[in-house]
Amino acid sequence: MVHLSFLLFSLALNLVSSTTVVTGQDQFVFSGFSGSNLNLDGAATITPDGVLELTNRTVTIKGHAFYPTPWRFRRSPGEAVQSFSVAFVFGMVPIYPGICTDGMAFLISPTKDFSGAQTSQYLGLLNKTSDRNSSNHIFAVELDTSQNTEFNDIDDNHIGININSLTSFQSQSAGFYDDNKNGMFSNLSLISSREMQVWVDYNGETTQINVTMAPLKVAKPSRPLLSATYNLSTVLEDPSYIGFSASTGPIDSLYCVLGWSFSLGINSSAPQINIAKLPKLPHVGPKPRSKVLKITLPIATAIFILIVGTTIILFVRRRMKYAEIKEDWEDEFGPHRFSYKDLFHATDGFKNNNLLGLGGFGKVYKGVLPVSKLEIAVKRVSHDSKQGMKEFIAEIVSIGRLRQRNLVQLLGYCRRKGELLLVYDYMSNRSLDKYLHCEEDNPTLDWTQRFQIIKDVASGLFYLHERCEKVVIHRDIKASNVLLDGEMNGRLGDFGLARLYDHGSDPQTTHVVGTMGYLAPELARTGYKETATQMRYTWH
Ligand SMILES: *[C@@H]1O[C@H](CO)[C@@H](O)[C@H](O)[C@H]1NC(C)=O
Ligand SMILES: *[C@@H]1O[C@H](CO)[C@@H](O)[C@H](O)[C@H]1NC(C)=O
Ligand SMILES: *[C@@H]1O[C@H](CO)[C@@H](O)[C@H](O)[C@H]1NC(C)=O
Ligand SMILES: *[C@@H]1O[C@H](CO)[C@@H](O)[C@H](O)[C@H]1NC(C)=O
Ligand SMILES: *[C@@H]1O[C@H](CO)[C@@H](O)[C@H](O)[C@H]1NC(C)=O
Ligand SMILES: *[C@@H]1O[C@H](CO)[C@@H](O)[C@H](O)[C@H]1NC(C)=O
Repeated sequence: MVHLSFLLFSLALNLVSSTTVVTGQDQFVFSGFSGSNLNLDGAATITPDGVLELTNRTVTIKGHAFYPTPWRFRRSPGEAVQSFSVAFVFGMVPIYPGICTDGMAFLISPTKDFSGAQTSQYLGLLNKTSDRNSSNHIFAVELDTSQNTEFNDIDDNHIGININSLTSFQSQSAGFYDDNKNGMFSNLSLISSREMQVWVDYNGETTQINVTMAPLKVAKPSRPLLSATYNLSTVLEDPSYIGFSASTGPIDSLYCVLGWSFSLGINSSAPQINIAKLPKLPHVGPKPRSKVLKITLPIATAIFILIVGTTIILFVRRRMKYAEIKEDWEDEFGPHRFSYKDLFHATDGFKNNNLLGLGGFGKVYKGVLPVSKLEIAVKRVSHDSKQGMKEFIAEIVSIGRLRQRNLVQLLGYCRRKGELLLVYDYMSNRSLDKYLHCEEDNPTLDWTQRFQIIKDVASGLFYLHERCEKVVIHRDIKASNVLLDGEMNGRLGDFGLARLYDHGSDPQTTHVVGTMGYLAPELARTGYKETATQMRYTWH
């Protein structure tokens, strides 16, 4: 009956915790730490999947984990310390590839209070003043990943037996005597992010301490890595706690324990840790990515995308802003072609304060060409039709090639979607109507000037009608189309533009282009296209 209830009790315990198996009074085994009741302090935590992380990716920090109840190492007070055996599976994960500071240790101590212990090379075990003091009563097996000359460390990858001090009583580079290779020594790297197992065995009769290590899947080698004789009866107090300590130095590192077993007073090794049940060692990416980078990288990426996007939009908008229409046939008029960008800049973006006037065909702006500093007048003619454009351009360019002192010189043109821009010499004294209608405080013209201007206009018209290769009909001679240059010479403007609206329209149903009152009366009456003769009549 007693046996049955004990059996049920053990079964219940097994069900409560699958990882913690209480195998008897003087031993325990943890294959993973999920649900365990270890006493943790400092940076130590147990992850949800059961990894005991003694440090937490923070620099100069310490962490401890203890089996909650203390142990009596002597059968009765005054007797010698009994044999004991420890096994644990650990893993060290460097946050920065190839380097860890400072290390971890298995320890037996009369106290769980390590608040006075220092971090870094003190491994959270001792401090500068308590080091080497025999009243510490501490036994430890250190797994040291940095070489500290003050403790006579042999290298930065060693395992040592420590009594009351960080100076090891005996130490050896990490590795194992491989039974599969006739006991040949194999190096191990503590900070390789690989799980490894360590066995610590003490024989109470011989006072022999053996420390053995091996990669996780390798069985306990028959030859220990360290073997020392030290009577722990002179060191350990009763009762004492068993547990782990670790600390980081200037470089944060993850020191983890995955499994742990212990037995006391039994003439055998610690219970086997169930390797299959062990949790996975935390993975730390190869990149030494700092928190700052984690925050700044997405922001930087967003800014980069924003900049690229804005640049593209600005580029496209710029392309649209200065977009022109240019066809193959225009190549021959190349020298007479202006870029829209130049005209845009010359006129300050066609600002209203550069507006010279509103002609019959469109707005006229004053401008200064960027490179030559030449003063120009730009007429924006809205025109959607592509029909006849070639002939029109050919004509105005051919007129532009000719120079006549009574015509406003056409310098060139530019084409955009829906509009045509004509570039003329700038006439500093503006147009005749400004004088005749007494606008802008202009001085009244005397009769000599008036007569001169009339002669100039006649001369210009004569040139267009009789001297030009092609007869050009003006159709809109009025004061606002007579411009005055710096010497008050009259010059005809807007000539040839009427043709723009002729082309492409049915000659039989000509609409009237021009200004009523300045047209030949019969044109207004009949709607027929006037001839050069009629034009002359209009003027006379
Ligand atoms: C690490 O542990 C220390 C001490 O417990 C704590 O102050 C700190 O916030 C922890 N850091 C992180 C990142 O968890
Ligand atoms: C060792 O530690 C004890 C207790 O803290 C203290 O009383 C003693 O003076 C220390 N001995 C030395 C040599 O520092
Ligand atoms: C083992 O480590 C020692 C000391 O670091 C080194 O001299 C030796 O070459 C290593 N052996 C192998 C096989 O890596
Ligand atoms: C230590 O190792 C030696 C060599 O394998 C062995 O003879 C001895 O029994 C071991 N001692 C303990 C306490 O395990
Ligand atoms: C170890 O120390 C204890 C207490 O000082 C002593 O009783 C025992 O005989 C010692 N054992 C050996 C093997 O010297
Ligand atoms: C431990 O085992 C050895 C040999 O197997 C035996 O001689 C010794 O008496 C045992 N000691 C205990 C305390 O069981």
